[in-house]
Amino acid sequence: MGKRKLQHFAENKTFRHVIEPTSDEMLNDRFALKGKWGEEFFGNTHPIVLELGCGKGEYSVGMGRRYPEKNFIGVDIKGARIWRGAKTVQEDAIPNVAFLRTRIDFITSAFGPEEVSEIWLTFSDPMIGQSENRRLTSRIFVERYLKILRPGGVIHLKSDSDFLTEYTLEQTEEHGYRLLEVSRDVYGEMERFNPELQQLLNIRTHYEKKWLAEGKKINYCAFVP
Ligand SMILES: C[S@@+](CC[C@H](N)C(=O)[O-])C[C@H]1O[C@@H](n2cnc3c(N)ncnc32)[C@H](O)[C@@H]1O
Repeated sequence: MGKRKLQHFAENKTFRHVIEPTSDEMLNDRFALKGKWGEEFFGNTHPIVLELGCGKGEYSVGMGRRYPEKNFIGVDIKGARIWRGAKTVQEDAIPNVAFLRTRIDFITSAFGPEEVSEIWLTFSDPMIGQSENRRLTSRIFVERYLKILRPGGVIHLKSDSDFLTEYTLEQTEEHGYRLLEVSRDVYGEMERFNPELQQLLNIRTHYEKKWLAEGKKINYCAFVP
């Protein structure tokens, strides 16, 4: 492993806002912050928004800056990516953004019932040719989200992948989720969205910038499961 990566892993451990639960805590449902993020971590009762598969956390940081009255948690298994967002949070002293390094598969061990108000899935891997159950919008994952989401909590998917978008729309229909919005060209249709959503959709992630440079169109959909 590269020296820089090791330095970033070590620095993550010094950040209060990077939480790295142990396997035991996740597998045996012993994570102390579960159900207590507001009171014990953020020190308030503001709504909690998750960015799942956050990578470098551009959405968590970007939304955190825009909405000081909400809390944001980026979740990813890759510590070296999380470090980038976590470093920005430290340097800019952003009090309402944290990162959780864990597999999203264990999300119900990290949050209690109705603890989460909204979920963003940003450029999730489409997992083409792999088990459907690994896709973050598959029924198995949405059932996990339902255990932690408040009633009416929205799931947003921003994606370069037509495959994952179509799959998600099929899931929406099959399971009767309430579809709120679909766009197959977010930047080409930006004026369609309300000003608040426009601000959010204009945040660009690391992977997104790569796809945009290749001329790809960006998809967006939002639904209530
Ligand atoms: C294509 S990257 C996108 C990263 C970032 N959102 C962006 O747009 O730049 C997908 C991310 O999801 C994470 N990921 C995928 N499946 C995961 C899982 N089951 N648990 C935790 N992280 C996962 C990967 O580690 C990776 O960082």
